[in-house]
Amino acid sequence: MSDTDLEHSHQNAPNRHERFRGDHPIVVEGLRTQFGEHVVHDDLDLKVNRGEILGVVGGSGTGKSVLMRAIIGLQQPTAGHIEIFGRSITNAEPDEEIGVRSRWGVLFQGGALFSTLTVGENVEVPLKQFYPEIGAELRREIARYKVMLSGLPEDAAAKYPSELSGGMKKRAGLARALALDPELLFLDEPTAGLDPIGAAKFDQLTRELKETLGLTVFLITHDLDTLYEICDRVAVLADKKVIAVGTIPELLETDHPWIDEYFNGPRGRAALASKERAR
Ligand SMILES: Nc1ncnc2c1ncn2[C@@H]1O[C@H](COP(=O)(O)OP(=O)(O)O)[C@@H](O)[C@H]1O
Ligand SMILES: [Mg+2]
Repeated sequence: MSDTDLEHSHQNAPNRHERFRGDHPIVVEGLRTQFGEHVVHDDLDLKVNRGEILGVVGGSGTGKSVLMRAIIGLQQPTAGHIEIFGRSITNAEPDEEIGVRSRWGVLFQGGALFSTLTVGENVEVPLKQFYPEIGAELRREIARYKVMLSGLPEDAAAKYPSELSGGMKKRAGLARALALDPELLFLDEPTAGLDPIGAAKFDQLTRELKETLGLTVFLITHDLDTLYEICDRVAVLADKKVIAVGTIPELLETDHPWIDEYFNGPRGRAALASKERAR
């Protein structure tokens, strides 16, 4: 088979897709989500830039995780419009969604690994689901590669989640999120519960993966060090909306009391000081 033949056979494969070239892989407009009478988001807008790490912050219960779930189609909005890779997911038929679904990876809050499967088998789950034509041997090989890409030792693939430390579990969840070579990565509080050194290492890994794999990252976090160290922009959730989005210096100019308190409170100042010491 010549190179051109190979190219053609790839292009004709059912799951073959072009990488997204537009400016905003995620566009949310006028989003409203609610549980019964409880309105979580009301007329929320957000655009995520291609190739950025967008930090998403906001008080506990402001709807960060629900926003992520709405974007990936797990939470039905009451109103509004969501586009991923330039395609509407709010109006899509369930079948059409499959094509885009294989183009993002998610690390849920808490990790959510299958406890009865090894780390390697956890990573194989999305591969089985989206690429059933891949043979068992190759699938195992791909999973092993993703485990190592996530900074875990090779033997971690054969371990069960209960045998791993908190930091290693997060990496295992990351390996599974990377299983399908996604263009978009969603991380919900990935460093919560890690010690400062483990958290800093996870941040660096996120940055490196973003750069080498050309990812766009939607990163929910409470961690001010993470915001200063690796986020290109930060979106602030409050009052059921994204009240501001920009670099940290840009946010500080908005004079919003929550933003001011968050970045200029004792923890915010400590994070800034540590960033400046590191320079
Ligand atoms: N499945 C659900 N059913 C009812 N209420 C929910 C559900 N999921 C989240 N909520 C509520 O929505 C609000 C936002 O939750 P969440 O997005 O998890 O907050 P956070 O910003 O801390 O991630 C909270 O008040 C939460 O109680
Ligand atoms: Mg949450």
